[in-house]
Amino acid sequence: MARNHRQPRGTDALFRTKSVEQSIRDTEEPEHRLRKSLTALDLVVYGVGVVIGTGIFVVTGTVAKEYAGPSVALSFVVAAVVCGLAALCYAEFASTVPVAGSAYTFSYASLGELPAWIIGWDLVLELALGAATVAGGWSQYVTQLLDNVGITVPAALTHSGGGFGFDVLAALLVLVLTGVLLLGMKLSARVTSAVVAIKVSVVLIVIVAGLFYVVGDNYTPFIPPEKPVDEGTSGLLTPLSQVLFGISPSHFGVMGIFSAAAVVFFAFIGFDIVATAAEETRRPQRDLPRGIFGSLAICTALYVAVSLVVTGMQKYTELESEAPLGSAFKAVGQPFFAGVISFGAAVGLTSVVMILLLGQTRVFFAMSRDGLLPRAFSQVHPRFGTPYRTTVLLGVGVALIAGFFTVTELTEMVNIGTLFAFVVVALGVVLLRRSRPDLPRAFRAPWVPVLPILSVLASLWLMLNLSVETWLRFTFWMLVGLVLYVVYGRHHSLLGQRGD
Ligand code: ALA
Repeated sequence: MARNHRQPRGTDALFRTKSVEQSIRDTEEPEHRLRKSLTALDLVVYGVGVVIGTGIFVVTGTVAKEYAGPSVALSFVVAAVVCGLAALCYAEFASTVPVAGSAYTFSYASLGELPAWIIGWDLVLELALGAATVAGGWSQYVTQLLDNVGITVPAALTHSGGGFGFDVLAALLVLVLTGVLLLGMKLSARVTSAVVAIKVSVVLIVIVAGLFYVVGDNYTPFIPPEKPVDEGTSGLLTPLSQVLFGISPSHFGVMGIFSAAAVVFFAFIGFDIVATAAEETRRPQRDLPRGIFGSLAICTALYVAVSLVVTGMQKYTELESEAPLGSAFKAVGQPFFAGVISFGAAVGLTSVVMILLLGQTRVFFAMSRDGLLPRAFSQVHPRFGTPYRTTVLLGVGVALIAGFFTVTELTEMVNIGTLFAFVVVALGVVLLRRSRPDLPRAFRAPWVPVLPILSVLASLWLMLNLSVETWLRFTFWMLVGLVLYVVYGRHHSLLGQRGD
């Protein structure tokens, strides 16, 4: 690496921004150029492919049972509103800076290098940990399916035996999907389309077939009366909002709807990933907003319908936490549908893992191309046109995480990481409007700066509903990232070397 670059000086260097024009020029370097092949429909398929997953197949039941009863449908609406506000900000950014890297790239263009590094580091929580989490959920479904046909996965190869189990199935899934991603976007898009078709069909089957078994009585009370939280919720597991403001976490009642929204938020994670594919989109200015809003709207409608049907089929107190959709069908004497749903979930979760992995490789790719991570990681494969080194490195890393950690251990970290990215992107929209009012914006978020500020507040509010333990882990992770930036990224940044 040449040593003749300008050494960063003081805080100016930390907040140097990369111009949008430079970001777009970088995508034209032949060795670091991604193939542009995606259309608006591909993006919606990607969006739905990554969004519908563990959230609806698993979390709905737990949340209805413990926080909201049938009003969990309203929690989905609340979470969708928070995501919708963020989506408006993401859409403006993605259509202005159509470059791989999503929130990372946006922050580099608006807030500066240090905030960009922070957000890139933070996105690992959403993308890499998210992929590992859903791989864990997938492994549970597959274990269940294998069990149904008489094959028992040894406890030592899962987490179910307790102790020091390594979830071999989850790790294997991640490695296989890494291979698919290495072969290129178009193949990945094809695989995804097939998986998404199966997944959406299964969700529609639940809605349509389930409607016949809805019993009106199960909806009474629609919003169950408020109940004090169990003793278990204390110490590090207490939501930060309670520690800061002395607000008691509610289960059920109107406040329960909001507590549940912070949990079902997980079900929406992923619509923002569409923005990470900006550089591989043929007409990003037009198609990105379509892709983001299309997937968000479809998922919200399906979630509300599924949660209404499931809580109508079975009393919320009797829903099963692990596989609520299947169990509701078993409860009404339809085990066949339960099997179909388990199959759909096992197939459907694969695309979630794959697209989260894809998003993570693209963020690392962008960071490496900028010199904040070693440049070697952004080499694109001459034949497949994919960033193969980053893909392999991350694939192995995520496989290990998926093997060693359980779904519950990871979920809250994924939520806090994603919400933090929403906050930064919303702030970025306001700043970029001020610093670069001249840039062409194919999509403009309405009511700036009021709307982005509302988005920041809504995301922060959901973050406050997460536990003290999650906040501590999050702070630790961000500090590690800060040290890495000071030791490596700051000195190797291409922007610093160019003296921009
Ligand atoms: N939204 C994705 C899921 O529910 C992460 O699994």
